[in-house]
Amino acid sequence: MKFYKEIAKYYDQIAAQYGAHENAYDYVRATSNLKSFINGVFILEVGCGTGNLSIDLARSGYTVVGMDSSQEMLNEAKSKLTPDLNVKFYCQDIRDLDLPYKFETIIVYESVFALIHTRETFLVESYLLNDEEITESLRKLKAQLKAGGRLIIDIRNPRDPGRRLKFGKDLVYRVEVEQEGKNFLHITHMIEKNEKLLLKESVEKYIFPLEKFEIALEKAGFEIVGLEKHKEFFIAARK
Ligand SMILES: C[S@@+](CC[C@H](N)C(=O)[O-])C[C@H]1O[C@@H](n2cnc3c(N)ncnc32)[C@H](O)[C@@H]1O
Repeated sequence: MKFYKEIAKYYDQIAAQYGAHENAYDYVRATSNLKSFINGVFILEVGCGTGNLSIDLARSGYTVVGMDSSQEMLNEAKSKLTPDLNVKFYCQDIRDLDLPYKFETIIVYESVFALIHTRETFLVESYLLNDEEITESLRKLKAQLKAGGRLIIDIRNPRDPGRRLKFGKDLVYRVEVEQEGKNFLHITHMIEKNEKLLLKESVEKYIFPLEKFEIALEKAGFEIVGLEKHKEFFIAARK
């Protein structure tokens, strides 16, 4: 995805600004809240990006594999590795996921899928743009889990398209979101310096009700455990 290739070098600074303002991208908080829901010690993080959550989990004693389809994001992740951390990174697309391990827990945090908690309901936002790819990818996740393993997906609030986030040296990050029909979002990310555009990249996302995702999870062989009490994570367990 060209978007992540371009944004990789700015990603952590932007995520830190988000983390300071809302529950998304707060990796320390996510690690601490995840602990009671993680099954076992061997974790796969899908769409690990620049590796922040994978590394925090490893610091907490877990053995972690992070995978992502963007080599540029993974290069940032690898630059943070130290010999004491039990983390490996792999460049793969979830649609072709094939790793030589079986995990006890798989975490999808702000990545290929995320749950959005709107006032009325829960929606799922996905980088995969059709139902077949979603079900097939969930089957791939199931195949990477040990029996009794868990799949955990994060829940966040809707993004605020009006927000201008200042970061780095005189840089501003902002997002425009256009809804295309009922189920698609055209999201444009921009970085400006002194009001001059440095980067403008758009990405498409598929958005649909949680109930549809639950059907896909069941089709792929997961049993749904549900929303955890702080509504930060959604948990599906492998049958
Ligand atoms: C918003 S970033 C989140 C990164 C990280 N989880 C975090 O919280 O900082 C979304 C990540 O999902 C990855 N991604 C998107 N589609 C993917 C796919 N089909 N397979 C694997 N990774 C994907 C992107 O490359 C990107 O690194």
